Amino acid sequence: MNSPQAEIWERYAAKYTPRRPVNAAGASTWLNWTQYPDHGPDESVLGDLKGKRVLELGSGAGANLAHLATLGAVCTGIDIAPSRAHTAQQTWGNLGEITFATADAVEYLATTTTTFDIVYSIFGAVWFTDPEILFPLVRKRVSDEGIFAFSHPPASPQEYKPGQVIRQWHLAPTRWTDLLTDTGFADAAAEVIDAPEPGKPGTVLVYASAT
Ligand SMILES: C[S@@+](CC[C@H](N)C(=O)[O-])C[C@H]1O[C@@H](n2cnc3c(N)ncnc32)[C@H](O)[C@@H]1O
Repeated sequence: MNSPQAEIWERYAAKYTPRRPVNAAGASTWLNWTQYPDHGPDESVLGDLKGKRVLELGSGAGANLAHLATLGAVCTGIDIAPSRAHTAQQTWGNLGEITFATADAVEYLATTTTTFDIVYSIFGAVWFTDPEILFPLVRKRVSDEGIFAFSHPPASPQEYKPGQVIRQWHLAPTRWTDLLTDTGFADAAAEVIDAPEPGKPGTVLVYASAT
């Protein structure tokens, strides 16, 4: 049986509008860290990708991970919403070494025996999971030369009501980097990427090395 979280995310998935088939540069695959099209840094944040084992936490429709597969990465995407893996595999499964699975991020990281070179999340499971539980699990599954990176909207006041099923972790950039450092990550950094238009929310991009 699906968890209450999975059921909520499945309803979210049912309303999802597929990304444009081609971006402004004419590319059919691309990685976008922000909520705005054709905006912000690309996959270079993750370093060299060829042959790297990559895990995306909360991969949704799979479009970002698909781009990494085209660059030679060996890709695994997990998402808590059951329909996501099927849809993503059907859309992108022919692009190279790319596999999508249905799993909660914490449960997946606690049980997998795979070590990844890169773990990342874009407005995904990292934003919706207690970092004090998630970060140690990520650290255990990232190789010593590995990278952990994630993006989400800037911190905003959030009133958490006990019993609320979906919770967002709205932390200030320095709180994210402190938590990463406390977990044993090195060179933790967080930057705020301004929105393309004044008055709109930017994006927080956080990254760290495993050692
Ligand atoms: C806002 S969507 C972003 C999807 C995708 N990363 C993108 O940029 O299009 C958040 C995704 O995270 C997934 N998600 C939320 N909590 C999760 C968890 N605990 N474990 C795995 N996936 C989760 C949701 O099902 C959803 O697909």
